[in-house]
This record gives sequence, structure tokens and C-alpha cells, in this order.
Amino acid sequence: MNDDDGYFGEDVAARYDLSDMFDPAVVDPVVDFLVERVGSGRALELGIGTGRIALPLAKRGVNVHGIELSKAMVRRLREKSGNENIGVTIGDFATTTVDGRFSLAFLVFNTINNLTTQAAQVACFRNVAAHLEPGGCFVVEVGVPSLQRLPPGETIRPFHVSETRFGFDEYDIANQGLISHHFEIVDGKAVIHSFPFRYVWPAELDLMAQLAGMTLRERWSGWKREPFTSDSRRNISVWEKPAR
Ligand SMILES: C[S@@+](CC[C@H](N)C(=O)[O-])C[C@H]1O[C@@H](n2cnc3c(N)ncnc32)[C@H](O)[C@@H]1O
Repeated sequence: MNDDDGYFGEDVAARYDLSDMFDPAVVDPVVDFLVERVGSGRALELGIGTGRIALPLAKRGVNVHGIELSKAMVRRLREKSGNENIGVTIGDFATTTVDGRFSLAFLVFNTINNLTTQAAQVACFRNVAAHLEPGGCFVVEVGVPSLQRLPPGETIRPFHVSETRFGFDEYDIANQGLISHHFEIVDGKAVIHSFPFRYVWPAELDLMAQLAGMTLRERWSGWKREPFTSDSRRNISVWEKPAR
């Protein structure tokens, strides 16, 4: 881990945009969902990264500001067209404050799990609520913990296996933690990264929202408003700060 950039230092940032998460088929429904909820206000992205969502959102005419720990990720954002319309504050999104109020805040792609303690996740909800205008909403996209798929007594679960890429989640059930281990063969050499996470349950997220003075407005399993069921592998949840 790079001390300044957290787990998203130069080496991770350099390869970040190669992911299939940049496919328009993945990005467009996210942007459509957010555009429908921002209204005429501003949007705040926590963990803006290289601008995967923020840039197309800004191109749709939304005023976007980001908070981000990694300067290496933001350097990639700054190389892209349209970046000049996006402000970024470097800092921890659990505690960093920015000027002004927002009608929408969002935290996508499991990034709430990058906060590895419950206290930090609660602080994040409180920080978001303080930035939202009355009636504003907070959108989180995060996986549902896959403990049902972990055989009794086992702690390791593969999440990706192909000829050049392997990924394994290592669970620490007592502490509600997991480490995602990524192995990739690049130019004949193994590139290895391990990221620590704290997984979080939908009901626990609702309680965090309640502690921050927000209430659940929507919960889906996909950006096209697919229903959330007992089989859903992720949730896209929207909490609202009460209107005055
Ligand atoms: C999985 S990436 C997601 C980036 C972008 N939102 C996207 O959807 O592509 C997570 C990002 O959150 C940033 N991040 C992780 N923890 C953070 C924290 N506590 N405060 C600010 N940024 C953080 C990382 O540096 C990284 O850029």
C-alpha cells in the first residue's frame, strides 16, 4: 500500500481503466439512474477515481464534485476530456468536507467497503448527510455479502478465474472483513494486489442512514431498477435526507 494514495497507487491507477467496468453497457445505466435523481442540484461522488461515472455524468450537464484519496487516480482523471468541469478535493470521504450543498451524493462499485471499520462507514453516512440539501439523496452500490456461498468452515471464495486473471476473497467472519486477492499475468509476470474491505449488510446500511438522519427511499438489485430479492448479489440503495 502506498501511504498517500491508499490502495490505489500508481501501479493500480495505471491499469484501472482497462477494466470491463468502463464498458458503456455498464456505465450508461448508472449515469441514467443518477441523472434521474439529481434534479437541478449538484452531485458529489465519494471515491471519484479516474472519473468512470463522474465524466459521463458531467457530460450530461450535471455539476459534479468528487472526493478522492488517491492523487494517482485523480491524475488519470485530469488527463481526460471534460475533466475541467469537475472539481476534486483530495481526502478521506468519511471525514473530508467540501463547500456548498448537493442534491445527490453517490458511492458506487463497492467503495463503501473500502472503509474497513463500522465507525468509518457510519462517519461516511454522517458526512454525506451534512453535505446534502433537504430532500437530497444518497445512492450506494454495494455487493450483498456472499456468505451463503461460503461452505461451512471455509474462508476463501473465488470471484474470478480465467487464463490470465484469478481473484479470491478471503473472509474474516468474526470481524466482518474480507481481503480481495487479485492475481493477473501481465507480459508473462504475475501482478498481485490485495485489498482489505469491510462487507456490510443492507439492513446495517439502513441503520447507518438512520443514525445520519436519512431514510430508505429505494432498493434495487441493478441500475435498471431490477427488483431486490433474497437472491440478489448486490444492492443499489437510495436514502433521503428529509425535506425541511
Ligand atoms: C473501486 S474504485 C471506484 C472509483 C470510481 N468511483 C469508479 O466507479 O470507477 C475506489 C476509489 O475510491 C477511492 N477511495 C477508497 N477509499 C477512500 C477513502 N476513504 N476516501 C477517499 N477515497 C477513497 C480509491 O482511491 C479509488 O479511487
